[in-house]
Amino acid sequence: MIRIGIVVGSTRPGRNAENVARWVHDLAAKRGDAEYEVVDLREFGLPHLDEAVPAAMGVYEHPHTRAWAAKVATFDGFVFVTPEYNSSFPGALKSGLDFLHAEWTDKAAGLVSYGVDGGVRAAEHLRQVLGRLKIADVSGQVSLSLFTDFEDMTVFRPAAHHEDKLDAMLGQVVSWSAALRPLRAA
Ligand SMILES: Cc1cc2nc3c(=O)[nH]c(=O)nc-3n(C[C@H](O)[C@H](O)[C@H](O)COP(=O)(O)O)c2cc1C
Repeated sequence: MIRIGIVVGSTRPGRNAENVARWVHDLAAKRGDAEYEVVDLREFGLPHLDEAVPAAMGVYEHPHTRAWAAKVATFDGFVFVTPEYNSSFPGALKSGLDFLHAEWTDKAAGLVSYGVDGGVRAAEHLRQVLGRLKIADVSGQVSLSLFTDFEDMTVFRPAAHHEDKLDAMLGQVVSWSAALRPLRAA
């Protein structure tokens, strides 16, 4: 079965990302078309990139890199849950992406972003980086507003209409993750 990792893109204390990722997981798990798992960057305790050799060379020195690589390698596709920080996505997520290479390549991804304007600037930046890693990002996206989908910007209460968008995006991620299998096998 296709495996999709739901990557929690914020590591800060009190983050909204955890509840957003849980919402994604709860709805995704009802679809029955893939195995969905929340992948929490924070649990891997990654520092800023501290590998001497660029990830594309596939030589991972540190145990934290190897643990992160082993987890990411188990997935066929991803949903990245990202807030917007200063018009981009969090540095912790960028570093988490930079740590690895082959484990990301020829997989699919969809985005769930949030911020004052739905986190769309963060999402667009993230799409650029995913392209470089040969992660195929689908067009479907969920953009959550800090004003209308969160109470006091901290309590997650998503408007009902986001569920259809999430469902459509997940369908795209699963089908592209399956379609890219031959490339991963090669
Ligand atoms: C360092 C920082 C910078 C931020 N910059 C923006 C921004 O440029 N645009 C925006 O819409 N929200 C911005 N915000 C608000 C965040 O999107 C909001 O706090 C969100 O809940 C952060 O995600 P998290 O709680 O999962 O860490 C910023 C928040 C932080 C902490």
